[in-house]
Amino acid sequence: MSIKTLFARYPVLEKTVPHVELGNWPTPLERLPGISAEPLLLIKREDLSHPLYGGNKVRKLELILADVLRKGFPEVITSGGLGSHHILAVAALGREVGLRTTGLFFSQPVNEHVKKNLLLEVEFGAEMHYVRNYLGVALNYLRYYLGRRFNPRRKTYLLMPGGSNALSSLGYIGAVVELEQQLREQGLPDPEALFVAAGTGGTAAGLLAGIALTGMETKLHAVRVVPPILLGRRKIVSLARSSLKLLARRGADIGEAVRRLESRLYLEEGYLGEGYGYATAEADAAINRFQESGIRLEGCYTGKAAAACLDYCAQKEGTAGSVLFVHTASTTHQECEQAELEPKLPPEFRWCFSGSPCDKQ
Ligand SMILES: Cc1ncc(COP(=O)(O)O)c(C=O)c1O
Repeated sequence: MSIKTLFARYPVLEKTVPHVELGNWPTPLERLPGISAEPLLLIKREDLSHPLYGGNKVRKLELILADVLRKGFPEVITSGGLGSHHILAVAALGREVGLRTTGLFFSQPVNEHVKKNLLLEVEFGAEMHYVRNYLGVALNYLRYYLGRRFNPRRKTYLLMPGGSNALSSLGYIGAVVELEQQLREQGLPDPEALFVAAGTGGTAAGLLAGIALTGMETKLHAVRVVPPILLGRRKIVSLARSSLKLLARRGADIGEAVRRLESRLYLEEGYLGEGYGYATAEADAAINRFQESGIRLEGCYTGKAAAACLDYCAQKEGTAGSVLFVHTASTTHQECEQAELEPKLPPEFRWCFSGSPCDKQ
């Protein structure tokens, strides 16, 4: 399934949208009545999308990596915070299709989850560079860009943080088509609200475009986990529009979907706390509630989205209908061997393990 459900609905896309199948599709759609029965809480298990490293990046990367391979680049350069799930996914899935990954890392609060992710980067074979902040990211992209311009043999594919663009958001349009099919199979109505964590906004944009395209009567609640300067309503709607227009250019009939975008989006802005990567009491409480039902979340993205989702369910308690939570963080990856991997970490990252958190921010 995955994007193939989209291809089944618009057969022309099979030929016009390059795609490499990497994930486990469809991801399960489950009920969580122990957390909320009225409205019924549903969960889309994107965390299980790939056996080595799941989460929301897999659908995006099935399209991006196909583009990289088609253009003949042997290496992807991308960036993210120290605990970036995006760089991890590029490294894990890129390796599967024979590509090298270089990651540029900027600071974020260092906790156990971040440390574990840094060690996984080593395990997945990423080349790692610490660039401190957003300025460092921009300067390094410029450096690689110029390097490529003046040395055509240096073929590097520059991928923006989060891998969010019109092409990769098609993956989440596919996810909505897949979801719609699962709802019908399970005899469930369209959920009234769908909750997802929003960082660079590509996942939310794809979901929004998918909801608009299928005509589902669902409101997307995008839960912002980054400062307002990095993500606003306009960015999500504009990315969703670009993605729909890309579909149209590739031959699909998108009907009136673009007109429905604005009305289907609600941006949740009250769950960020002190900033990107900072823990909040609401997210910690949500992580514990989900843990009791056997669902493992983390604090940077899914915990905050779950906190918004629980507040919504509490407000609507006792009403019919359903609410969907999209679980976007991998839970399939193995625990890593700290003793074996820590010595292999580049020296510029060792401070993260020295017990002086945030000393480089
Ligand atoms: C676990 C998790 N959830 C949600 C997101 C947000 O995805 P996007 O950047 O497409 O908004 C990310 C992005 O890194 C993530 O790692």
